[in-house]
Amino acid sequence: MSLKGKVAIVTGGNSGIGLAIVLELARQGANIVIDYVAHPEATEELEKQVHALGDCVIGVKADVSQVAELQNLFAAAVKEFGRVDIMVNNAGVETRTSILDTTEAQYEKVMNINLKSAFFGTQLAAQQMIQQGGGGRIINITSVHEDWPMPGNTAYCLSKGGMRMLTRTAGVELAPHNILVVGVGPGAVATPINQSTMQNPELLRKLNSAIPLGRMARPEEIATLVAFLAGDGASYISSTTIFADGGIMQSSPGL
Ligand code: BGC
Repeated sequence: MSLKGKVAIVTGGNSGIGLAIVLELARQGANIVIDYVAHPEATEELEKQVHALGDCVIGVKADVSQVAELQNLFAAAVKEFGRVDIMVNNAGVETRTSILDTTEAQYEKVMNINLKSAFFGTQLAAQQMIQQGGGGRIINITSVHEDWPMPGNTAYCLSKGGMRMLTRTAGVELAPHNILVVGVGPGAVATPINQSTMQNPELLRKLNSAIPLGRMARPEEIATLVAFLAGDGASYISSTTIFADGGIMQSSPGL
């Protein structure tokens, strides 16, 4: 168990990729703070699963797009566990709206939940890690779309592109403190965010045929990468993004 005794915060931790990350970090021995905004019953259920793995866990309701709520999240984590070793900025949403008709409210929602939360989550994690000493890991869950356009989802791509530069710049700035900042860029993953695609056979066929491995990822296939990056084996990886995308970014029809 490579993360025995470490303390990890996972934002957006009670569903999708976040849920899988919570379980995998717990499997590796970490104690967990599950951040969530809705579905307390899902958090409670997940807490039971983490307990069953032999780890300590708390659920904290905090809207990470608000800095004051992020501060409450950290205060709750430190009150319960005394420290934070691993920060996973995972919370994310998308609107799948064209640049032609995305509203100001949609734009702000996507940017605040995806990018602002990761910026201030990184800031608060780094402040805590510097204060406690010994370094730490900050893992930003971005997307292939930090680099690869997704027409019809421009605000989302913009937020993920911002997370790409957050990862690079904060990684350089925080390196003297032995705080490693890494991005994880998933491709298409079978989670609620992709429900509309999964329910549309034609769209799903199109998506699968664009993926060299021919299928969407399971959330666990992203979570195992996050757990690796949080552990001792990843002590020389920082300021970059590791993609787990089934090859989709390199997909070519061979023409
Ligand atoms: C997006 C999905 C998209 C997938 C692959 C993810 O980041 O949330 O909407 O299908 O990337 O393009």
